[in-house]
Amino acid sequence: MEKGLFITFEGIDGCGKSTQIGLLESYLKEKGKEVLLIREPGGTAVGEKIREILLEKKNDSMKPLTELLLFEAARAQITEEKIIPATEEGKVVICDRFFDSTTAYQGYAREMGTELTDLLNGIATAGRSPDITFVLDIDPEQAYARRVGRGGEEDRMEALGLMFQQKVREGYLKLASDNPRVRVIDASATPEEISEQIKGMIDNVI
Ligand code: TYD
Repeated sequence: MEKGLFITFEGIDGCGKSTQIGLLESYLKEKGKEVLLIREPGGTAVGEKIREILLEKKNDSMKPLTELLLFEAARAQITEEKIIPATEEGKVVICDRFFDSTTAYQGYAREMGTELTDLLNGIATAGRSPDITFVLDIDPEQAYARRVGRGGEEDRMEALGLMFQQKVREGYLKLASDNPRVRVIDASATPEEISEQIKGMIDNVI
């Protein structure tokens, strides 16, 4: 993308993305960068409504294709409304999840196939791609323990269980092995260690 920098964070549920996103945001702001922090699904008024539909546990009759198209609909909105304008203004955009989530969750774990997810990801983003993506890689059982520790009710996606999370994890590792944009970080390290690694990689691209 032109001018600004577009960074995405990925990983299975409970991998510790939020902590790392917060640390990177502070680091970039200290360096004088203008940072826009957004999340998927959501990040726009329309997208937040779609998010509610996607995550409400009572919507358990949702078909996989409906789910996929709703994620892509929210993505089309955030790409045009937020990501493209902010990067064109030279901002650093940090997005909590982006199209690699669709590849890992719907393409691999739901077994809808990456040909379909690649096609729809391309349409929803008009071919835009992050400049750099961090996949926080962690064992699903460890991630589950973190989520339980954090409290709160599980959402429709989290309710799919450990086997599903394992497939998501494998999906991320596969997509990372095909793509130099995607950096896999060992998320079992301490938050400080992880953050130092991420900052080092970001320093190399800004
Ligand atoms: P969220 O509460 O944002 O999860 P987290 O805090 O772990 O990021 O919920 C988003 C859920 O939706 C999460 O389980 C991942 C899933 N998801 C997909 O299945 N496909 C997608 O394209 C995206 C963006 C998210």
